[in-house]
Amino acid sequence: MIKNILQSVYRNLYKYAYKLNISNNHILSRKYYSSEKIFELEKSRLFFRHWIFLAITSELSDEKSWVVKNICGTEVLLTRDGDNYYAHQNICPHKNIRLCDEEKGTRPLTCKYHAWSFNLDGSNKRVPLEDKSYKFNNRQKSCKNLKTYEIEKIGVFLFVKIKKSSIRIQDQFEPYVLKSLKLISNYFDNRIISYKEKRNFNWKLNFENLRDALHPAVLHSKSLSKEVDFTAQYDEIPPVYEKRVWLRLPYASSFSNDGGYKGSDSFDTLASKGIKPLFNEGYFNWLLFPNFHMASPNAGRQFNIEFLNPISSKCVEITHIFIMQKSSYSNKEIEDELEAYRVAGRKILEEDYWAVESVQKGLEFSEIEQNVGAYEYWNLNIANLYKRIIHRWFIF
Ligand code: FES
Ligand SMILES: [Fe+2]
Repeated sequence: MIKNILQSVYRNLYKYAYKLNISNNHILSRKYYSSEKIFELEKSRLFFRHWIFLAITSELSDEKSWVVKNICGTEVLLTRDGDNYYAHQNICPHKNIRLCDEEKGTRPLTCKYHAWSFNLDGSNKRVPLEDKSYKFNNRQKSCKNLKTYEIEKIGVFLFVKIKKSSIRIQDQFEPYVLKSLKLISNYFDNRIISYKEKRNFNWKLNFENLRDALHPAVLHSKSLSKEVDFTAQYDEIPPVYEKRVWLRLPYASSFSNDGGYKGSDSFDTLASKGIKPLFNEGYFNWLLFPNFHMASPNAGRQFNIEFLNPISSKCVEITHIFIMQKSSYSNKEIEDELEAYRVAGRKILEEDYWAVESVQKGLEFSEIEQNVGAYEYWNLNIANLYKRIIHRWFIF
């Protein structure tokens, strides 16, 4: 009863704080982008307790293969055994050394120190000289396997959860988002290119930029905005208090058409090659909370994934994956198309990363907070959800 009253007071206060003039007009205060203490909270309460995208299945093209990925400094060994995918800690349970030093491979999972070996599902295969030298009791025997993490496969998308929590993948993403990932997976070509880079900004700033609907017309006026019409985003925005909602976790992720098609050389080339749009022409975005972005600027002919792994409060490692719609083109033709797509995307990314790194620098050298206004209501709502998660304000 008291909890319900408090909850209702708090929610209304949250909604009307702007109207009452008692709310700050920034998305998050500066410490959330530069404090290592906050980063530790993010790691344990957000990234380790929620479903985090790690790879697509074509990264594990061999029937028996593995790749090493990273979530906030914790290495995850993703393995494939036929149609089954597993996620393990990349640590040998004998003396806790790193099991695989390479980024990917097909070699057997055998530790280089004393040759303990493991099956792809993480179970122990063999401990050389076990009976003679180790003489394990039953409890010790049960600790011979790799530590495994929960994994979910949605179409070609692999998500992992590091710590046990009650959150199921269906609690984190709405059905239409999961369905859209499953559906488009059927159209993905297996031939992909990917690369990684490090950037000096807090991971959240990139997602705030992606949700900032006013920037493309200005920042990308000579690139993306020539090809995509973002003017629908300029419809008048109601006052913030009308747009503030007490966001629940699944509503923090979305799949949307964010721009109209103007026609462009690169898209028309694909059309002339018979690669058809999967949706009505437009710029499609998947934004999965907290750190996954995928776009298809040309209605499902090509896709690019941008996945941000936070390294510290001020630094991220970004993985980019470029994918074509399935076709019968030769490897060389696909390679050329993907490379052209990578180069075109690079120009837009450089513009975005310049802006985001500039915001990070501003946060560090200036003492004033941002002054964002009503059109950022979506960022404001997500920031509130984020704070409730990392500070455990679950009572509300
Ligand atoms: S540390 Fe791996 S087998 Fe000994
Ligand atoms: Fe942008």
